[in-house]
Amino acid sequence: MLITVAGFKGGIGKTTTAVHLACYFSQLGQTLLVDGDPNRSATGWSKRGDTNFPFKVVDLMQAALYSPKYEHIVIDTAARPDQDELQALANGCNLLVLPTTPDALAIDALLQTLDLLMSLGSDRYRILLTMIHPKPVKMAQQARAALSELPLFDTEIRRLIAYEKASLMGVPVYQVKDRMAKIAWSDYEQVGKEITK
Ligand SMILES: Nc1ncnc2c1ncn2[C@@H]1O[C@H](COP(=O)(O)OP(=O)(O)OP(=O)(O)O)[C@@H](O)[C@H]1O
Ligand SMILES: [Mg+2]
Repeated sequence: MLITVAGFKGGIGKTTTAVHLACYFSQLGQTLLVDGDPNRSATGWSKRGDTNFPFKVVDLMQAALYSPKYEHIVIDTAARPDQDELQALANGCNLLVLPTTPDALAIDALLQTLDLLMSLGSDRYRILLTMIHPKPVKMAQQARAALSELPLFDTEIRRLIAYEKASLMGVPVYQVKDRMAKIAWSDYEQVGKEITK
């Protein structure tokens, strides 16, 4: 399985999604996380803590050497890919995961990405709603309604401090000492299950 996480907007949970999908796929087989963002956020995350991640993290330039040895590959990418980059991303994976927060700006950026993908004839993508506020905030429902014709994951990723702690401490979220850490991990586990079912 080769999964790429992408999106036009910055700060919508791409790296958080890539790291935790890599955690999920590590349970199923040898997994490689390719850091395709020049900011190196995923690499930084994996190096900050003294924990061993269950997957290997390599730079995009090292991907060709490492990828044949791995069963599952997750690629994290930078925000704002241009049309050519998006085409290369979409054609270079089994599934393009497009995280979006439920706010109007992020949804607008997502719709632009989808326009481009449709014009490229790509249909191997799925949208993931992230950083969802707890009820009674209705933004997620409104976003879901606006995107109802599109391939959306049933699972939504809740907005939880545990993710920020995880990135700060350089560990996967299930290793964070926070009462919501297990719930945070279960959200990404659910997404993983949706991908593999
Ligand atoms: N579900 C969540 N709940 C709360 N905070 C989150 C969640 N997902 C991500 N975050 C936090 O939001 C910030 C942005 O997340 P992340 O780095 O994953 O986004 P990104 O799309 O990769 O950003 P960039 O475009 O800069 O690469 C980080 O501080 C991260 O810890
Ligand atoms: Mg990122």
